[in-house]
Amino acid sequence: MTKRILITGSGGREHALAWKLSQSAGVEKIFIAPGNAGTAAIGENVPIAPEDVSSLVAFAKANAIDFTVVGPDDALAAGVVDAFEDAGLKIFGPRAAAARLESSKAFAKDFMIRHGIPTADYREFTDSAAAREYCRTAKYPLVVKADGLALGKGVIIAGNFSEADAALRLCMEDRAFGEAGSRVVVEEFLEGVECSIHALVDGSTYLLFPDCRDHKKAHDGDQGPNTGGMGTISPSGSVDDTLRARIRTEILDRFIAGIQKDKLDFRGMLFPGLMLTASGPKVLEFNCRWGDPETQVLVRRLDSDLLPLLESTAAGALGAATPAWDEKAAVCVVLASGGYPGSYEKGKAISGLSDGASLDEVEVFHAGTKAVNGEIATNGGRVLGVTAKAETLEAARSLAYRAADKISFAGVQRRNDIGATPTH
Ligand code: AMP
Ligand code: GLY
Repeated sequence: MTKRILITGSGGREHALAWKLSQSAGVEKIFIAPGNAGTAAIGENVPIAPEDVSSLVAFAKANAIDFTVVGPDDALAAGVVDAFEDAGLKIFGPRAAAARLESSKAFAKDFMIRHGIPTADYREFTDSAAAREYCRTAKYPLVVKADGLALGKGVIIAGNFSEADAALRLCMEDRAFGEAGSRVVVEEFLEGVECSIHALVDGSTYLLFPDCRDHKKAHDGDQGPNTGGMGTISPSGSVDDTLRARIRTEILDRFIAGIQKDKLDFRGMLFPGLMLTASGPKVLEFNCRWGDPETQVLVRRLDSDLLPLLESTAAGALGAATPAWDEKAAVCVVLASGGYPGSYEKGKAISGLSDGASLDEVEVFHAGTKAVNGEIATNGGRVLGVTAKAETLEAARSLAYRAADKISFAGVQRRNDIGATPTH
């Protein structure tokens, strides 16, 4: 039977998922809601927002959608999976109660501590006076985090009390992140290198993917503000077999035991952000979705069909799936609009797209793009993810940058050190 697939979201992650799923033997047609100019070339874009749950359910019913794949986190927190499953529709992603592991940092920390998953020591506050009192005598640096979803901006590293005080004011009093800041987590600063882990979780078992590294800061040398991610590599080069075994036993095995004990129905992608510290891997956060731009490098390395993996995860029947992975390295370099993650302009014409994409082993995944009168223009902060694969990380880096050099638009901003030796 050939299947009709719906993917929700409009980023590079969604284009990468659509690209990979379009290669599945079992796929007849892919719809993307709302998609971008890249997804329009693979399937049919549908003008429905990922959080508009009732319109998505109605669309899926009216268009005989066999399987839906959720991209962004806020749609999961809004209960899109609950609504689909309750309507008898098949969908990939955790229900809202389990997606709280991403949408509430306090909930996630409590889960980790109760189930012995290594993470930074922390305190949780809803009262700003109590939080200030604690920060006055705490050890620095420390990290102040808004509890809820804040587009990656609700995390502030404070070097001293006055910075912590300002962070608490921003979150709890000025409500710079809205309701997300009514509760804060104040935690120990961890030293180490970061690493992104992805594992499909079907409620009782998991399938660990290759590791990746994101580059979250806007500028070279890990300078500037945090972004959604300016580029990724896979493998990260920091995870050997011993560390991978620790990630399994100390994080993923305990995660599975924890959701079963707590009766949390988690079926979907678990993406823990880790700090690899001198005393072992520690979880910085749980994401309950595919990473962006981690997905771009992961799908380039997956040799097997993605659809059966997602369907069996959603059905709670992952079993002993053993997908084939390409040993080669993949690198994704993000081209962003000038000013991102702050304010930026849209509607800049993009040139050289087909030149960049025509290089062997290069795929250019679209994020914030839009077709205007047959031309492709910028339409968001992160615009493109130029993704290359080669025998070595160094070769993949140089190929990704060779392709990226061919693509331009007014104000283009990128990092030139994706995959260079980590600087922190
Ligand atoms: P999060 O959204 O919690 O992953 O935080 C975003 C970024 O802040 C992470 O990718 C880290 O770079 C940094 N960060 C968060 N928590 C800590 C911590 N406890 N120690 C050091 N850096 C952190
Ligand atoms: N690239 C980090 C994230 O998707 O959260």
